[in-house]
Amino acid sequence: MVMKVEEIIEIISQFDIDGILLDICCKNNGNINKTYLATYKMSDGEVKKFIFQKINTTVFKEPYKLMKNIENITAWIEKKTKFNDDHKHPCLKVIPTKNKKSLAVVLDENGEKQYYRAYNCIENSVSYDVPKDKKVVYNTGKAFGYFQRMLIDYPITNLEETIADFHNTPKRYSNFLKDVELDVCDRAYDVADEVVFVLKNSSYSSIITNLINNGRIPIRVTHNDTKVNNVMMDEQTGDYLTVIDLDTVMLGSSLYDYGDGIRSAASNAKEDETDLDKVFLNLELFEQYTEGYLSEMALYLQEDEVCHMGEAIAVITFELGIRFLNDYINGDTYFKTNYDKHNLIRARNQFKLLSDIKSKLAYMDEYILNSYKQKVKIRQ
Ligand SMILES: Nc1ncnc2c1ncn2[C@@H]1O[C@H](COP(=O)(O)OP(=O)(O)OP(=O)(O)O)[C@@H](O)[C@H]1O
Ligand SMILES: [Mg+2]
Repeated sequence: MVMKVEEIIEIISQFDIDGILLDICCKNNGNINKTYLATYKMSDGEVKKFIFQKINTTVFKEPYKLMKNIENITAWIEKKTKFNDDHKHPCLKVIPTKNKKSLAVVLDENGEKQYYRAYNCIENSVSYDVPKDKKVVYNTGKAFGYFQRMLIDYPITNLEETIADFHNTPKRYSNFLKDVELDVCDRAYDVADEVVFVLKNSSYSSIITNLINNGRIPIRVTHNDTKVNNVMMDEQTGDYLTVIDLDTVMLGSSLYDYGDGIRSAASNAKEDETDLDKVFLNLELFEQYTEGYLSEMALYLQEDEVCHMGEAIAVITFELGIRFLNDYINGDTYFKTNYDKHNLIRARNQFKLLSDIKSKLAYMDEYILNSYKQKVKIRQ
């Protein structure tokens, strides 16, 4: 549904912003939330920008729970940033409504509630859908490492689960098996090769969850969407400024965040590239991300986390591959598709990537360990 300008102006007037609206435009690059950028002349004369987002309630069923997490996390990071006297990393702040709520609520034409939130805009920043060079990849790893480090002592009981079983890979695997059995769209037979691939690689499903369940790795505050475009970088210097898109911040393992960061930043091709020869893990970009991440987190990681970082890249790639294939088998009900078999193409892409990752695992494990040892030694 296209929102009229007057309607969005009406909604954003609910927020506690002491200024006059000069301009508003829609930023369309978000997949999940609809994002608007607005410019205000504040009462003290300063010109300031703000971000407004309509929450996607199909994905996030409990918007207030989600906002509670974001308010707590952003307040925690802001407190630490001030304490460290850090002026390099502007903080993301939730702007409340005039009646001190985290969300503005409006009814759509069907009488359904729509939820909007406001943030300060990270000024003079840019986000990249595709990293333009290796520095962007290094800074993405560093930004997510910094984010994890800022939250290392966050009281974990103070965090809600916004999407249940988000990285429960064994559960995703068992759901996949059930759906292949049910085969509601009569598609499973045609993807027998892909199903066999999943069965052959099923041991990847429980690697990280077993480590968690056996108490070998800690539960940490994790971002759960560690994509390159969720880091705002300085337009001029290219340094990372702020991690955004905190909707999926929950409790989990550092391994999923690291693995997914590498999967998205260091894959040579788009997720729906059809030429599988172009799909592989770029080792130079893997090294850049790892260097950035470990430069922040090396001192804080436990041995079992470090030893499983390479495998984590395979686990998350396996997980996403089965999610795409599962959605194809179920008739494309979850991921937005642009053409027939789009999800199947995406699944094949992840499976090719997984095969490539497996062939490079020994190299990556050695690289991670050396880089880790070097950083720990330098810091000690
Ligand atoms: N506080 C902010 N300051 C500056 N730009 C922002 C801010 N928040 C979001 N943006 C811009 O809007 C884009 C979309 O925001 P966000 O990632 O929160 O939405 P999303 O729909 O969840 O995105 P996606 O699903 O693609 O990750 C970002 O990539 C960034 O360019
Ligand atoms: Mg995003």
